[in-house]
Amino acid sequence: MTKSQDKPGQVTRREFFGAIFGLSLVAMMAQFGSVLARFLEPVIEEGAFGTVVRAGRVEEFEVGSVNYFRQARFYLVRLEDGFLAEYRKCTHLGCVVPWIEEEGIFNCPCHSSLFTKEGEVISGPAPRPLDLFPIEIRDGVIYVDTGTIIEREAFHPDQLTPA
Ligand code: FES
Repeated sequence: MTKSQDKPGQVTRREFFGAIFGLSLVAMMAQFGSVLARFLEPVIEEGAFGTVVRAGRVEEFEVGSVNYFRQARFYLVRLEDGFLAEYRKCTHLGCVVPWIEEEGIFNCPCHSSLFTKEGEVISGPAPRPLDLFPIEIRDGVIYVDTGTIIEREAFHPDQLTPA
């Protein structure tokens, strides 16, 4: 059958395959777009640094305890009068400062700065105490805002968030 013999309104083979090809192309572009969008979307894990982290319930932390939240990069310190959330980053050149439970101090492995449990400098070269993150306690649950860094020159009891 020649083209001139096509009936009006009848779809030719060429038009049919052209339409199928066009639809396939649209479907492929949509799939590519969704993959691209997922790739570009920032990945924010629960409890990750930079977010408000649910640390736990007040009663889970004994007075005197220091608990490390590795992913969120802070230590939750419970003192007699409340909590501190101390940034693990040394105020000298930014090394990760480990808590030494047996000695009751933070000891930076890079240049040996020592910090008290409250984060105050015992010996330098660190120029100031460990930074803090704001804490909010709601219905007995502790939330730490690791997106807000608080620098300080010394420890004051009013930095504590009461239980
Ligand atoms: S980075 Fe901690 S003492 Fe230098």
